[in-house]
Amino acid sequence: MKSIISATILLSSLASATPVRREPGPYEITNFFASKTHNSAHQTFDFFVTAPSLPEPVNCHAGLDGGFGGATWLAYVWDGKCDNPAVTWTFNNPMVEYNVANPAIFNVTVDGVRGTYNMPARDITVWLNNEPNPFDNDVAYTGPANFSITQFFGEE
Ligand SMILES: *[C@@H]1O[C@H](CO)[C@@H](O)[C@H](O)[C@H]1NC(C)=O
Ligand SMILES: *[C@@H]1O[C@H](CO)[C@@H](O)[C@H](O)[C@H]1NC(C)=O
Repeated sequence: MKSIISATILLSSLASATPVRREPGPYEITNFFASKTHNSAHQTFDFFVTAPSLPEPVNCHAGLDGGFGGATWLAYVWDGKCDNPAVTWTFNNPMVEYNVANPAIFNVTVDGVRGTYNMPARDITVWLNNEPNPFDNDVAYTGPANFSITQFFGEE
């Protein structure tokens, strides 16, 4: 009996020592939505991630307060969550020029492998409806709803 248990432990440790190598990507992003609510500082992000290691598309969502300055750039999301905990994400749209759309970096991590997407400024639109009132101004992602992440970094 004892030797059967040892054999089982040995087999399972062999299995974990030789993980199956999976191609990390591409990560397909579909229905990407990021927008500020008019007359509010609230911003919403929503999209789906499909990746070779995921059995089905994963929905990711964030609703957060962009703050007083957030009327002309998309909010910084540093702990983005999804309906599958194997997937996390960040979104960083730093203000380079005030009242102008600026490029952003969108990172999606699946099973510890981070993919990075450089979002060009032309895919983000700023509407200056009433410059002195930031909540009246708006910002939204207006690029393609579906795109691929093909740039990967090592295990985190
Ligand atoms: C984006 O992908 C989704 C899911 O595959 C699809 O339903 C939708 O039609 C695509 N949208 C565009 C603009 O291609
Ligand atoms: C996104 O990934 C890039 C490339 O690895 C990294 O330089 C950057 O710090 C990441 N951003 C965040 C917010 O983690």
